[in-house]
Amino acid sequence: MLNQYKNLANAEAHVRTTGPEIWRQTEGKVTHFVAGLGTCGTITGTGRYLKQRNPGVKVIAVHPTEGHDIPGVRSIRQLQQTELFLPEEYDGLVEVSDEDAFDMCLRLNREESVIAGPSSAMALVGALRVVEDDPDAVVVVIFPDNAFKYASTFERHFPQVRSAPSHAAPAAEADPKAELFDSLVANSRNAHNTCEVDDLRAALAGSQPPLVLDVRTPEVYAKQHVAGCVNLPLAEIAPRQGELPDLEHPIVTVCNRGNMSITGMLLLQSLGYKNVRSLNGGTIAWAEQGLPTESASPVPASDADGGATRC
Ligand SMILES: Cc1ncc(COP(=O)(O)O)c(C=O)c1O
Repeated sequence: MLNQYKNLANAEAHVRTTGPEIWRQTEGKVTHFVAGLGTCGTITGTGRYLKQRNPGVKVIAVHPTEGHDIPGVRSIRQLQQTELFLPEEYDGLVEVSDEDAFDMCLRLNREESVIAGPSSAMALVGALRVVEDDPDAVVVVIFPDNAFKYASTFERHFPQVRSAPSHAAPAAEADPKAELFDSLVANSRNAHNTCEVDDLRAALAGSQPPLVLDVRTPEVYAKQHVAGCVNLPLAEIAPRQGELPDLEHPIVTVCNRGNMSITGMLLLQSLGYKNVRSLNGGTIAWAEQGLPTESASPVPASDADGGATRC
């Protein structure tokens, strides 16, 4: 029974992963942890872990107003639906309006070139409101998602976006909100951590061929996979990290069409791998171009000829 609003495994996942990742990356210097509230798995689990490491860490929970239009997060009334909302474990609760959150989306995009979604911007507004401007503060704010899934929400809040053809107005009069949309589109076309079939083919022929890591289940992998790749299902990446090459080694993650492999790529990056990309179009695009595939019984990465680096 998955029910993310009741299942303690939700918060527990953050105790096991998000919390240690933040502790490691800040070298234990984190002073504040700030997150938006949806199921509350993130805030409760990560907060518990960080407080266990250092009881002085301040855990700040940020939520939208009643009747809000921010996907993924819940107002105080909506939060009654989640059993993981435990305000007694947090050091502060901050309410942020839609207007402040969407304005921050625009600022993040224009000033920092960060394409964050509205719940990320909401959390940042909350952080800036409560954390003092202290040079010793190390504040970690969770950005759960980028903006790409929320096109219709952006259209509601930035109505000019659709009616502003890029050639219509001279640059000096360009609408900043249309610029936001342009940069969203440009970024989605140039994602630097994905690659195309041609890129992978060239990389495999190059001097430092990447490890091609198929992150699907062994059953699906067995049906058809990129020739020579290694199978390491998504759920086993962290526990079997020891079978992977060093953190500098290039890795390309692959799945059916390039969705699950993005999660694999992000997971590997969170484990410290510096050169990971996800194959757009996945095994299907690879096969459609007539490139070699295999169908065989799954080979555990550790047993593969030459270990996990054989590609
Ligand atoms: C976009 C977005 N922001 C924030 C959250 C909140 O995270 P949590 O559910 O861990 O409280 C979610 C949860 O799915 C989300 O999808």
